[in-house]
Amino acid sequence: MGRLDAVYDWFDERTAVRSLVRKGLYEAVPKRGAWFYTLGSATLVLILLQLVTGIFLTLVYVPSVTEGWASLNYLKQHDAFGSIVRGIHLWSAYILLFVIGLHMVRTFFSGSYKRPRELNWVTGVGLFLLVLVMAITGAFLPWDQAAYWTAVVVTNVPAYTPFIGSFIRALWRGGDFVGPITLSRTFGIHVWLIPAILFPLILAHLALLRKHGEFGSYVNYRGAYRSREGVDVPPVPPQRPIEPPYPAVPTDELWAAPLETEDFFPFQTFKDGLVSVVLVIVVFLLAVAIGAPLEPIADPSTTSYTPVPEWFFLPLDELLLLVPQQLIPLALIVPAGGVLLLLALPFIDRGPERNPFERPAVMVPGGFAVLFVIILTLLGSGRLFNL
Ligand code: HEM
Repeated sequence: MGRLDAVYDWFDERTAVRSLVRKGLYEAVPKRGAWFYTLGSATLVLILLQLVTGIFLTLVYVPSVTEGWASLNYLKQHDAFGSIVRGIHLWSAYILLFVIGLHMVRTFFSGSYKRPRELNWVTGVGLFLLVLVMAITGAFLPWDQAAYWTAVVVTNVPAYTPFIGSFIRALWRGGDFVGPITLSRTFGIHVWLIPAILFPLILAHLALLRKHGEFGSYVNYRGAYRSREGVDVPPVPPQRPIEPPYPAVPTDELWAAPLETEDFFPFQTFKDGLVSVVLVIVVFLLAVAIGAPLEPIADPSTTSYTPVPEWFFLPLDELLLLVPQQLIPLALIVPAGGVLLLLALPFIDRGPERNPFERPAVMVPGGFAVLFVIILTLLGSGRLFNL
């Protein structure tokens, strides 16, 4: 133990690692709602799992229409470890989409996007969209029948953008049709382009979180002033406001903070760790028990194959199916407008009220939007099982 301490001291003298660790671990976080706060860290853990398993997969995967499928088929036939890694990559992506959705619903429901956390929310919406793009571009890569027909449908969606739609489709496809260039471009987007934006954006999201503290939820907006450690302060004058936003750093000699807080370490880290470990175990079990499917290699000339969309693409796919061909550009205004509204939410709903039951003007349209997505998913779900 003494030796380890000496090594730590040596390292600390050169890097100041001790104060960094302290700063990272000993933040005051609220006691109320702590289990809901585990969703953000679970999202982070699942994204890191994606990164690690993705790096493993790039060691074998070849982004070519002749070799891509063959490299994954090799894993399936001859490499049990590689197959499990591929299964983990797929199932943790699926569970990540679910958990990030819950994290978003929780921050929406609890009013956490309000001043001063508008940018926590805006960066979050950006992360949600990037994770969706990661999932849909990943679905092209196996280049089996499912992947090919997903690519045909998905690369056609941007074509409905006014004025530049055909250009974007041709740029993504590398021509008029889905083919080898589509695969190598999509591989570049999945492995380089999106991660290069996603990971810095995660850092920005976490830095903002640290700046404002984890006090965004309405359950924590019963605050109190506290004296800074070691400083004696006279009783707080009653007129001093302790309503939102709490200053995240001490102002004068006083902190404003939720009434009940606890240290991030070990209390919140324990809950975060427990939820993340359970999720990782579930991912591992699904990867072993079900694995990642691989259909026969893509065959553009086939006429007998019935394409089935990825489950997370189902609401959009169903919307495109329900409306007549000529009205598709109009129908696509719904998801595009939805994204813009999400981005604008903290700037529209600016009142101090955070309690969801006191915010009907936001909760009712929000509830209808969620219901709309659920109904579209249910309508399309029969196709997932080829019904
Ligand atoms: C890669 C994706 C994401 C990661 C890694 C991530 C991570 C986190 C973490 C660790 C927290 C603190 C714990 C918690 O509140 O659960 C947090 C808070 C927050 N996140 Fe995210 N998040 C992501 C995506 C999103 C999305 C999609 C949204 C919403 C659109 C969002 C909005 C927020 C807000 C507003 C807070 C502040 C909550 C508060 O102080 O009460 N995040 N995020």
